Amino acid sequence: MKVTVVGSGNVGATVANVLAVKNFLDEVVLIDIKEGLSEGKAMDIMQTSHMLNFDTTVTGATSPMDKPDYSATANSDVVVITSGIPRKPGMSREDLIGVNSKIVGGVVDEALKHSPNAIFIIISNPMDAMTYLTIKNSKLPRNRVIGQGGMLDSSRFRYFLAQALTKAGYPATPTDIDGMVIGGHSDKTMVPLASLATWRGIPVKELLSEEALKDAVEQTKVGGATLTKLLGTSAWYAPGAAAAALVEAIALDAKKLIPCCVYLDGEYGEKDLCIGVPVVLGKGGMEKIVDLKLDGDEKAKFAESVAAARNTNANLGDALKG
Ligand code: 2OP
Repeated sequence: MKVTVVGSGNVGATVANVLAVKNFLDEVVLIDIKEGLSEGKAMDIMQTSHMLNFDTTVTGATSPMDKPDYSATANSDVVVITSGIPRKPGMSREDLIGVNSKIVGGVVDEALKHSPNAIFIIISNPMDAMTYLTIKNSKLPRNRVIGQGGMLDSSRFRYFLAQALTKAGYPATPTDIDGMVIGGHSDKTMVPLASLATWRGIPVKELLSEEALKDAVEQTKVGGATLTKLLGTSAWYAPGAAAAALVEAIALDAKKLIPCCVYLDGEYGEKDLCIGVPVVLGKGGMEKIVDLKLDGDEKAKFAESVAAARNTNANLGDALKG
């Protein structure tokens, strides 16, 4: 199996690195407009192969902005799009829409020319709008365009819940926690499903005070912004690992239930919108949407998230080919 990662910045390089170390693919191609960047990162990753014991081949290619050349990516099974600018402290993901919609629109077209059967995973922000843009412009079937946000946000939710439980006297680790975040990948409107979160089967709401649970939810929602403030740019280890987890579920046909941004066509009462919901991922990409019955509060929050995502899509302007 061959996977292309478009964009060799922090997130793209982390996706390639995690994929290589997991050692289930034949080939990973990194591609970027910046001359030599992908080749350098690929070579650096390959020079860890003996120490980290993997046989996946990672190669790099430059595709100049004025003369795109995606030939090195030909016949990829999965294409991960990380291109675009990351946010800076104080910016929202939605602030990036003008610049990133043009970049993402262009790279998807180029990648698709060489890999007409690929499944696309979109990471570039604002991710829900970039996923919508990709599906509308490419006219690909909805199972083949998947936005990554929910896996990352759920992982952050597990981290903050484990911290809160430990503080409350229950020594939890993130791997002991089951928890899911749906809705948009947005600071204000993502929806951590606190009522469904468990610590080894025990509902966390039975162990945490209302205040501690609310705090874990709020920290999750601004998880990306907190890191952007600390790092001066947006995070990459967890976003990269999250995208690699989606690739793994698809490449290994694992039928994993993972919250992802997908195109809704009546599910959750919504149409013509890409937003985070629980889906089953396998070799067909998005193979099933699990239509959860949300409780009253979560239903209202999901509706707010839907309204915000529609609002952002309205700013896609002429990036949408119509
Ligand atoms: C994040 O939340 C980059 O959107 C990504 O860190």
